[in-house]
This record gives sequence, structure tokens and C-alpha cells, in this order.
Amino acid sequence: MLKEIYKRRSYHDGFDDSRTISEEDINEILKAGMNAPSTDNTQPWEFVVVDDRELLVKLSRVTAWTKATATASHAIIICAEPDELQEMNVGIAVQNLALAAANLDVGSLIMAITIEDAQETVKDLLETPTAHTAYIMLALGYPTEPLPPNDRWVERKVHWNKF
Ligand SMILES: Cc1cc2nc3c(=O)[nH]c(=O)nc-3n(C[C@H](O)[C@H](O)[C@H](O)COP(=O)(O)O)c2cc1C
Repeated sequence: MLKEIYKRRSYHDGFDDSRTISEEDINEILKAGMNAPSTDNTQPWEFVVVDDRELLVKLSRVTAWTKATATASHAIIICAEPDELQEMNVGIAVQNLALAAANLDVGSLIMAITIEDAQETVKDLLETPTAHTAYIMLALGYPTEPLPPNDRWVERKVHWNKF
């Protein structure tokens, strides 16, 4: 698992759009997302999986920072009913998805979709129930060129016993 933590990178520039992730691998990725911890084990998430190119292109235009979705093989949008700790639940689930993807040599990009008008556009495109928020979008695809791992160890960020 440490290997995947370092291997996972954000593919801001998109993916090799000639390659499609198999349904088996998408299901493995989703299974990892569903295995995430959640408050009181509520498992509040609904996963909308998009593989329709036209829809992927529309989703790529919802913010200025979602362009990579246009070349993705799939996008997974995590929806849930809003709750005090829901952003944390969804955040943990999306990281599980991204790490599972890395394990399968699939690149990913986590994207914010609750900003500006994006939320309403995404909800319209996905026909999301009114009570749900579309919290986060994950684009998935094979990298044209794999990105190298980061090293972000900063000793001064660590505080022992007291801040
Ligand atoms: C909650 C969240 C929202 C993000 N939203 C976007 C986004 O809208 N567009 C984008 O290109 N990257 C987005 N990112 C990816 C970050 O820019 C990226 O994680 C950061 O630059 C570090 O790079 P790395 O993921 O390759 O380590 C988001 C990341 C997180 C955790």
C-alpha cells in the first residue's frame, strides 16, 4: 500500500484516450471505495460511474480545473446526502479509489465540483436526486506518461505531544 501512496499522482493534463479501463478493474476500484471507513459506518456514498465520451467531455467543462476528464476512460462522481462530516467520509472514499487505481496502473485526478456553478451543472448532467450533493469527481485513465513519485517529507510539519 505504501507503494500506491507514492505512485498516485494527479494527471492534470489528461490521459491516453485510446485506452479503456476494463469493467473488472473499475469494479475493483469501486470495491476499494466502498471499503472506506465512515462515521458510524453509514457508508453514505453513491458512486456515479461515467464512461460515455460525450458526458465525459461535458463534465470536463464544469470548472476551469476539470479539463482532464475529457480524455479519461471513466469518471466516478461521489454523491451523498449532506451531513456534518460528509466531506471527510467522501474524501477518504475518493482516496481509496485513487489508491486502488494506482495499484492497477490506472492514473487518476481528484477534482472539486462543489465550487461556483459546477455543482448544479454536474447534478443536472448526472440527474442526481435533489437531496444529494455531488461532492467530488475522480477522473480515471491510463497515463500517456507516468508521473514520478513525490517526496513531501517535511520534518517541521511534525509536532510531538504538543503543537
Ligand atoms: C479535494 C481536492 C480537490 C482537487 N481539485 C482539483 C481540481 O479541481 N483540478 C485539478 O486539476 N486538481 C485538483 N486536485 C489535485 C491537486 O491539485 C493535487 O493533488 C496536488 O497538486 C498535488 O499533486 P499530486 O496529487 O500529483 O501529488 C484536487 C485535490 C484534492 C485533494
